[in-house]
Amino acid sequence: GLVNTRGMFAKAFKGGYAVPAYNFNNLEQLQAIIQACVETKSPVILQVSKGAREYANATMLRYMAMGATELAKELGGDIPIALHLDHGGDFDICKSCVDNGFSSVMIDGSHLSFEKNVELTKRVVDYAHQYEVTVEGELGVLAGIEDDVSAEKSHYTNPEEVEDFVNRTGVDSLAISIGTSHGAYKFKVAPGESVPPLRFDILEEVENRLPGFPIVLHGASSVMQEYVDIINKYGGNLEGTAGVPEDQLRKAAKSAVCKVNIDSDGRLAFTAKVREFLYNNPEVFDPRKYLKPARNALIDMYKHKNINVLGSAEKA
Ligand code: G3H
Ligand code: 13P
Ligand code: NA
Ligand code: ZN
Repeated sequence: GLVNTRGMFAKAFKGGYAVPAYNFNNLEQLQAIIQACVETKSPVILQVSKGAREYANATMLRYMAMGATELAKELGGDIPIALHLDHGGDFDICKSCVDNGFSSVMIDGSHLSFEKNVELTKRVVDYAHQYEVTVEGELGVLAGIEDDVSAEKSHYTNPEEVEDFVNRTGVDSLAISIGTSHGAYKFKVAPGESVPPLRFDILEEVENRLPGFPIVLHGASSVMQEYVDIINKYGGNLEGTAGVPEDQLRKAAKSAVCKVNIDSDGRLAFTAKVREFLYNNPEVFDPRKYLKPARNALIDMYKHKNINVLGSAEKA
């Protein structure tokens, strides 16, 4: 069955690696996540966003995730699997997920005032913990794709707030903002210019103030150029994309960061292979024919992240 994130994070913290948190919206993404994590013997967090619930139906996704635990066993791997609500926006969506079999939820009150964030997060924690569901909170705002991250210092997590927040809310993990953002356009850089480094100094200060406490990194896709190139070669038009370099994610995974969120890299890999296949096989109209290479690309990408970036392989 599904497990919450408590044991996963304790092991990851001690072991100096991060558990992958991969978003899914459909069958092929879920199959790829499970196969990659079984083959690499990695624990995994399956993430469902509000948008995913709207797209695929909340009940469908829940049963799919439960089915995925059976699939993992069938594939020969008994790996820890959590089902997590990504960016829960209010108490009701968190409660609904707790009531419907999720093992973990995020309450994202990062846009609220500190006091309102504490109040909302504590309310979710008090409810979720009755059912052994773990809760992720957030302090600091991830820059929107329009923002110039390096200039908007006020968006970063203020390390002076973290102890108070964790103590007063009872959260099990904390997402912080150290320069990442969501999507495929994380940094504004001229071609050939390198992206600004993440604020590891903020992460270190947070670690010092919260000894042994699991930290979460959102917006952690590296926006792999190989997929952007394929998309653009076969009719796509993505310009000015930029992600977090993998060496920085490797470094983060060795720290108190115990959960790394990756969605965009999966979208890019999937779209690249669908475009390539349809371009090269214009006579094909069976979705299985073009979804299979896309699913295979996802499997390879997730295995690469587990083995070479997050260090979660062989940790199940
Ligand atoms: O946090 C954002 C995740 O990548 C989910 O994205 O809301 O488009 O499903 P979404
Ligand atoms: P990316 O857009 O970088 O994949 O981030 C995903 C994320 O943080 C989901 O919560
Ligand atoms: Na870690
Ligand atoms: Zn996120």
